[in-house]
Amino acid sequence: MNHDFHDRVAVVTGGAMGIGEATARKFAANGATVAIFDINDKIGNTTASDIAASGAKCAYFHCDVSSSSSVEKAVADAVGKFGAIDMLVSCAGIQDYGDAISTTEEAWDHLMDVNLKGCYLAAKYAVPHILKRGQGAIVIVGSVQSMTAIANSVAYVTAKHGLLGLTRAMALDYASKGIRVNCVCPGAIDTPMLRWAANLDKNPEKVIETCNRMHAMGRIGKPEEVADAIVYLASSAASFITGAALLVDGGMLVPAGGMGFQEGGTGAATR
Ligand code: NAI
Repeated sequence: MNHDFHDRVAVVTGGAMGIGEATARKFAANGATVAIFDINDKIGNTTASDIAASGAKCAYFHCDVSSSSSVEKAVADAVGKFGAIDMLVSCAGIQDYGDAISTTEEAWDHLMDVNLKGCYLAAKYAVPHILKRGQGAIVIVGSVQSMTAIANSVAYVTAKHGLLGLTRAMALDYASKGIRVNCVCPGAIDTPMLRWAANLDKNPEKVIETCNRMHAMGRIGKPEEVADAIVYLASSAASFITGAALLVDGGMLVPAGGMGFQEGGTGAATR
């Protein structure tokens, strides 16, 4: 689906790599001006330069989403350069593992600061600018773990659940003011984050193969497939959608009992 984002400015946090990068590229391909916010200056600058080389307006801004002053400055710098913000995609995120005992308070606080507070801070500073435009959209990147849990991921699962609350609360606050707020909930997507997680295991390819089988469609997703959903929700094609959580998970959450239960035999085939 093509969209017309000419004269619209999109901020994408975590836009240097992975799902954020794919989103920045898709916005730019549809005519948007794109501000990439990230902490990885090297890759962020490379991504922004590459997008700009295709003819789009795109720039990189250093932004640690967990820091109020950093987000405030990046938003001011982006508005200074591009004049406005119309759309905000909160994609920056980190992954960590541990249960309530093994997760240190520092690790808990850091993950909450990036994955949950970071989305609030980005909205806090970007929304006043979106309001000036009279209409706009926010898309928050949650996860299938916004609705379900995997073991040993207490902080990540909690933060991703929190993002659904943030999505709904902001959708209500800004519905009458022209800003729609939605959440995209991906399954396993082939990004540097997923490869990092797989590489924690001694057999990373087996982890990817397991991830493939967790989805009804038999494969993990591509960053571009999530970006398509994000850009759709940010576009006028989604003009009556707000407060929604859109699964982009290849059917991962469809089977009762999970794919292992389906493969193992539910008894249904014998009737
Ligand atoms: P990634 O690790 O490939 O990219 C994340 C980006 O966020 C990187 O460019 C990184 O530098 C940036 N970032 C990290 N901390 C930051 C901070 N404090 N401030 C600003 N930028 C920061 O990750 P991926 O896979 O693209 O994930 C993007 C989002 O999608 C995350 O919120 C993640 O939780 C979510 N997600 C990812 C899934 C997957 O399987 N890859 C599945 C479901 C959700």
